[in-house]
Amino acid sequence: MDSLIQRLPKLELHVHIEGTLEPDQLFSFARRNNVSVRYPSVEALRSAYQFKNLQSFLDLYYEGTAVLVNEQDFYELAMAYLKKVADQGVVHTEIFFDPQSHTHRGISFSTVMNGIRRALIEAEETLGISSELILCFLRHLDEADAFETLKQAEPYLDQIIGIGLDSSEKGHPPSKFERIFAAARSNGLLTVAHAGEEGPPEYIWESLDLLKVSRIDHGVRCLEDNSLVDRLVSEKMPLTVCPLSNIRLGGFPDMRNHPLKKMLDRGLQVTINSDDPAYFGGYMTENFLSTQTALGLTQEDIVKLGHNAVESAFITKKRRDTLHAQIDHLVHNDDM
Ligand code: ADE
Ligand code: ZN
Repeated sequence: MDSLIQRLPKLELHVHIEGTLEPDQLFSFARRNNVSVRYPSVEALRSAYQFKNLQSFLDLYYEGTAVLVNEQDFYELAMAYLKKVADQGVVHTEIFFDPQSHTHRGISFSTVMNGIRRALIEAEETLGISSELILCFLRHLDEADAFETLKQAEPYLDQIIGIGLDSSEKGHPPSKFERIFAAARSNGLLTVAHAGEEGPPEYIWESLDLLKVSRIDHGVRCLEDNSLVDRLVSEKMPLTVCPLSNIRLGGFPDMRNHPLKKMLDRGLQVTINSDDPAYFGGYMTENFLSTQTALGLTQEDIVKLGHNAVESAFITKKRRDTLHAQIDHLVHNDDM
């Protein structure tokens, strides 16, 4: 099973580039940029990664971004992530970035964009891993701030495949961003939104009906609403589930209680992703392995998860067909 997981061509559809900042890298950027860190060591920082809920994580996650200052920092951050996951058999990744967490500190949109883009282009050439970028709006900020950010993104719209919605979910319903999502769609951008991570099933309904999303990020709380599940199944709506994240943020007491298997069995188009791997104890392979072990996922489940990711990705039909065929080939030529 471990070998199947390793060899499966994997697609990561839910990862925040700022959430790939490893503690040792954080310290080295801090030294280089003369930014002070309030932890004495890498170990002390790592041991602070014990979260009660989403907000307790976000507080540290935004604090960590302070060390990202120059284009080279964003380049190295993205390159390190891409190298790691290419080694794990990830062939395609769709990466979130939070421009407001940088522009609010005086870092220009272009610094962030140029650094990340340089890494994506280089990684495609040297590692053979393809990528897309998704600009996320911070939902704890207001609509005007999101519109200002979309304006800053204008010169780069051909380098962004879509927009997303992240940060503190409770109290910040998708409806707050209906107009910015409409504006982004009219600019040809696809839309996704974090919903039903900590927030209620109603936020998933709103993401579908008001934001017209192509995917729901997390969506694990959909199981509380049967008619919502029916709708998600009938629309084959992808859900980018992040198992280690859900456990580390206290969504479920431990992996054996994670609903991923239940979701698969209900026919939901579930995918496995890492969210913020540097904070939650694992990248793609670790997310697959820990759910497989805890939930007793079968080979069929793993293969289904592989096909689901291919089906859910923002890629061409040609690439989709090729990847489906690669997975089928893996299954048919394998004693598993
Ligand atoms: N930003 C980074 N990770 C996030 C998560 N899991 N939920 C909401 N916003 C985030
Ligand atoms: Zn996320």
